[in-house]
Amino acid sequence: MIYKTLIRPLLFTLEAETAHHISLSLLNILKSSGGRKILSSLFHYETPSLEVKAFGLTFHNPVGLAAGFDKNAHYLEALSLLGFGFVEIGTITFHPQPGNPKPRIKRIPDSKAVWNHLGFNNDGAAAVAERLKKIKLDIPVGINIGKSKITPIENASEDYLSSFKILYPYGDYFVINVSSPNTPGLRELQKEENLSTLLNTIQKKNTELSSKAQNGPKPILVKISPDLTFQEIDSILTVIRETKAAGIIATNTTLSRTEVSAGLPSEGGISGKPIKNRSTEIIRYIVQKTEKKTHLIGCGGIFTSEDAVEKIKAGASLVQLYTGLIYEGPGIVKRIKKELSKKSISP
Ligand SMILES: Cc1cc2nc3c(=O)[nH]c(=O)nc-3n(C[C@H](O)[C@H](O)[C@H](O)COP(=O)(O)O)c2cc1C
Repeated sequence: MIYKTLIRPLLFTLEAETAHHISLSLLNILKSSGGRKILSSLFHYETPSLEVKAFGLTFHNPVGLAAGFDKNAHYLEALSLLGFGFVEIGTITFHPQPGNPKPRIKRIPDSKAVWNHLGFNNDGAAAVAERLKKIKLDIPVGINIGKSKITPIENASEDYLSSFKILYPYGDYFVINVSSPNTPGLRELQKEENLSTLLNTIQKKNTELSSKAQNGPKPILVKISPDLTFQEIDSILTVIRETKAAGIIATNTTLSRTEVSAGLPSEGGISGKPIKNRSTEIIRYIVQKTEKKTHLIGCGGIFTSEDAVEKIKAGASLVQLYTGLIYEGPGIVKRIKKELSKKSISP
C-alpha cells in the first residue's frame, strides 16, 4: 500500500533508469545497515506447498525475478531478501559494454508497460564472476548470457561460450538469451541452424565442465521472443529436444506496438501488460507440443496472483516478473505467494 501511495509517486517523478538505481542502492544500504531482519520480516512468506522442483533444482517458491533487473549482480543479496524463489542476473556479455545512449527506459503507465532500449549494458563476464565469487545465496541463481555487440553474429557461439566458461561455477542454471530486440541481429540466433550450433557448443562445454566438477551438467534454458510464429517455435523445440536443453523462458519483450499508445520509437522492447496474453499463449502452445517434457518459466505481464496462476495453469513450472515490480512494488512477491499457497494449482 505504502509503495503505491508514497514510494511509487516519488520514484515516478524521476527518470526511469535513475529511479531504478536509486531504489536498488537504498535497498543495498538497508541490507548492510542492519535492515536484513526488517526486509525478511516484511517479505518472508514460505510454506512447503509453494516448493517446486524443476530441472534438477529445488525452489522454495515459484516466483522469480526476471533478467535485466540486476544485470551485474550488484544487488543480488538484497534482492534475495524480497522473498523471490530465485533470481536471474544478466544479461551478461563476454565484453563489458555501455549499452545504447540514454534515455533508454520509459514507463508507459496507461498501458501498464515499460519500453526499454538498453542494449545489454553490463560489466562483462569476468567482472561479474569476480563479484559472484563472494556471494552465497540460499536460493537458486540463474545467469542469463547474451552476445557482445562487437562480436559478429557468425562468431556468436564462441562469444557465448567464453561467458559460459567464466561464469559456469556461479550459476545454478544458465539462460541463453537469443531474444532481446536491442542487440542488432540477436534474434537471428533463434533460427534452427544458428540455435543448434549455439546450443551444441554450450552443451559440449557443459558436459566437459560438469564431469571435471563431478556433478551433472547445469540446466541450460533458452529465452525466446513473444514475436515468433508458431512455426518458428516448432523449430526451436526441435533444437531444444536434440540438444537436451532443460527448458524455455517465455518470453522476452516485444517489438509489437499494437497494445501501447502511439509515439514510441519503433526500436526497443515492450514489457508488462501488453505481452501478458501472448506469453501465456506461447506457454500453452509449447506444453501441448512437448507433452510437458520441456520445463517452462512463464514471464510477461505478471502483476497479480491471478496472472501467475494463469501462467502456471498454462503449464509453466515457475514464473518470473520485472515490470510488475516497478508498478506494484516489492510487496507483489509476498502477495502472489500467499494467494498461490491458498490455491491448489497444478499445470
Ligand atoms: C528495463 C528492462 C530491462 C530488461 N533487460 C533484460 C535483459 O538484460 N535480459 C533479458 O533476458 N531480459 C531483459 N528484460 C526482459 C525481462 O526479463 C522480461 O522477459 C520481460 O520484461 C517480460 O516480463 P515482465 O512483463 O514481467 O516485465 C528486460 C526488461 C526490462 C523492462
